[in-house]
Amino acid sequence: MTAAASPEQAEPVRLIPTAPVAVIEIDNPPVNATSQTVRTGLLEAIREVDRNPQIEAVVMACAGRTFVAGADIREFGQSPREPHLPDVINAIEACSKPVVAAIHGTALGGGCEIALASHARVAEPGASFGLPEVKLGLVPGAGGTQRLPRLIGLEAALDLVTSGRNVKAAEALRLGLVDRLSSGDLRQDAIELARELIGQPLRRTGERPVAPMDAEAASAKAAEIRRKARGAEAPGKAAELVLLSASLPLKDGMARERETFLELRSSEQSAALRHAFFAEREVTRLPGLDSVEPRPVQKVGIVGAGTMGSGIAIAFADAGFDVKVVETSEQALAAGQTRIADVYDKQVGSGRLTAAARDERLRTIGYALGTSSLSDRDLVIEAVFEDLEVKRSLFRDLDGILPPGTILATNTSYLDISLIASVTSRPADVVGLHFFSPANVMKLLEIVRTDKTTADVVATGLSLAKRLRKIPVVCRVCDGFVGNRILSRYRLQAEYLLEEGALPHEIDAALEAFGFPMGPFAVSDLAGLDIAWARRKRLAPTRDPRERYVDIADRLCEAGRFGRKTGAGWYRYEGGKREVDPFVTTLVEESSQRRGLTRRRIPADEIQSRIRAAIVNEACKILDERIVERPLDVDVVMMHGYGYPAWRGGPLFEADRVGLQPILAQVKERADQDGPGWEPADGLVGCAASGAKFYP
Ligand code: 3HC
Repeated sequence: MTAAASPEQAEPVRLIPTAPVAVIEIDNPPVNATSQTVRTGLLEAIREVDRNPQIEAVVMACAGRTFVAGADIREFGQSPREPHLPDVINAIEACSKPVVAAIHGTALGGGCEIALASHARVAEPGASFGLPEVKLGLVPGAGGTQRLPRLIGLEAALDLVTSGRNVKAAEALRLGLVDRLSSGDLRQDAIELARELIGQPLRRTGERPVAPMDAEAASAKAAEIRRKARGAEAPGKAAELVLLSASLPLKDGMARERETFLELRSSEQSAALRHAFFAEREVTRLPGLDSVEPRPVQKVGIVGAGTMGSGIAIAFADAGFDVKVVETSEQALAAGQTRIADVYDKQVGSGRLTAAARDERLRTIGYALGTSSLSDRDLVIEAVFEDLEVKRSLFRDLDGILPPGTILATNTSYLDISLIASVTSRPADVVGLHFFSPANVMKLLEIVRTDKTTADVVATGLSLAKRLRKIPVVCRVCDGFVGNRILSRYRLQAEYLLEEGALPHEIDAALEAFGFPMGPFAVSDLAGLDIAWARRKRLAPTRDPRERYVDIADRLCEAGRFGRKTGAGWYRYEGGKREVDPFVTTLVEESSQRRGLTRRRIPADEIQSRIRAAIVNEACKILDERIVERPLDVDVVMMHGYGYPAWRGGPLFEADRVGLQPILAQVKERADQDGPGWEPADGLVGCAASGAKFYP
């Protein structure tokens, strides 16, 4: 009994007709997605289980690295083909004999829905579960919104379905999503449970009642979910469906769910999020690097135990590397050690980490004074003060200590890495590894290659990113690389808007409504205004005097307002809450006056489209200069490092949808108004003229 597979394909579903407990095995690499052949195979297998009198129960298991990781996302661009997943899953639940799901790896989306419709679930302790459809701009489409609340209750189901978060097996057990954890041999344990269920009444999830929520609480919850979604439509719709499970029979609830799923499947938001999903994976594949072997790295040295260095140390310790942190003084070293311990303590406090795991990680991080103890390291990353001469002197020193082959990386966010590399005898081994703060949390890693960096060093950066579970984007050297370079332009445009009539909180509100988690002024207060101030001072001698320069931020810094850490910046902070500050309003109005500008009310959509045009134009210049190879590299940087809403797919994906001509028109208008630096990028002009798209 096998699925209908084409002769050249391996069979994706196999029924092993052992009696009394048979096994249905799904084998569809890489992640056992429920493609059309899998759905067909599953349906046939479950029918055979029903028919075959020797079989009294069945275990649903997967070959390879994981249980079913969901519907086949690649099929979403095509029209749905029979048999549809909800029908297959309903057939599993309707089976006349007990079905036990044996789960290893990740049971996600359609995979989780298969598990929910099975009559019992056994999982490996390392397994995890989730309905991540909202992250693809969808709602679960095969019963997830209806069966999950029947199994774990409305509140927990709302959390999982609308956040798309994964839960580990232990939490799944606590929630009632899993019946048992396997103590060793997963398949054997599932067979055991299936045997126990033979002859007992079937436990069909779809037949369980759902305890309703108080109507007021439910609508407050749904409103909160919509607000937190910041413009993404799927979470709100998913919440409505979950809440319906309390009042509709399974069949009707599933019909509503299917309708919403199909509607969202063809939405722009889902197309953008699917683009984001595949782009995140595509960035790791760089033309010309596929056959290049990375260098082995296990021992990592980090110079500097400040916020950045500590975050990087944690990221490496979490990934199982042997880490050594060095500093120049006992005091700085002790402060770094405390900072690192505090992060882990917080994780233990919030239940994300066990005390034993914390102790284990803390043991993998060593501390020393001075760089001489780094001589046994495979990779050394500097995270010292952002100053070219400081970094050059450190690299000169490290070059003399480290054996040949050790990679030297800098975490600079703006500086010219070629100038840092040039003081060493090994510029080919020097690379930028630009982490984002907090480095142990943020996914993005810019890997910056100079003209001299060798391919195997870049490949090592990519392989490290994979081990660190980061999303890497390889780029070349320019001021600010990809993300900070775009950010600088977008900040400037925001400051022009200030002078023309908007106030910081209005610009922040417009961009938060656009979908950014925080507007640029709130971000600036969080990051600290002093870093950008230092950079402006550094660049002052080379600034084009014709360039429109806004000095409001400089005046804030001169007043000692460096952001949250000083209690005031673009806002003032009371009890951690940001508040509009009349001091800033006056500074802004004075600046308009000095420039002779009559302030006007600037509508949110003008703020949004001017900022978007600034981002797209700078992104095109980055492409023109071959700082990155592909539009998707820019999109991934902006989504993962700068909060560009993923449901818009990143600035260049969105630019295709908005149309390049209107964006170009806006860029030209800004160039007329704002002068040098704002000229349209050649690539943008060319694409707008020819009708070409970034994503044809
Ligand atoms: N469909 C098609 N391809 C998929 C896929 C899916 N659901 N999930 C992963 N893949 C592909 C990836 O694109 C990648 O292909 P590539 O090698 O050509 O780039 C390959 O499988 C391996 O994936 P990863 O590189 O991501 O491998 P990891 O081991 O890091 O992660 C994973 C594995 C946790 C399963 C991760 O791939 C993942 O989160 N996948 C998406 C899961 C998901 O969103 N499922 C829901 C789908 S929607 C759905 O089920 C609707 C239903 O309700 C009807």
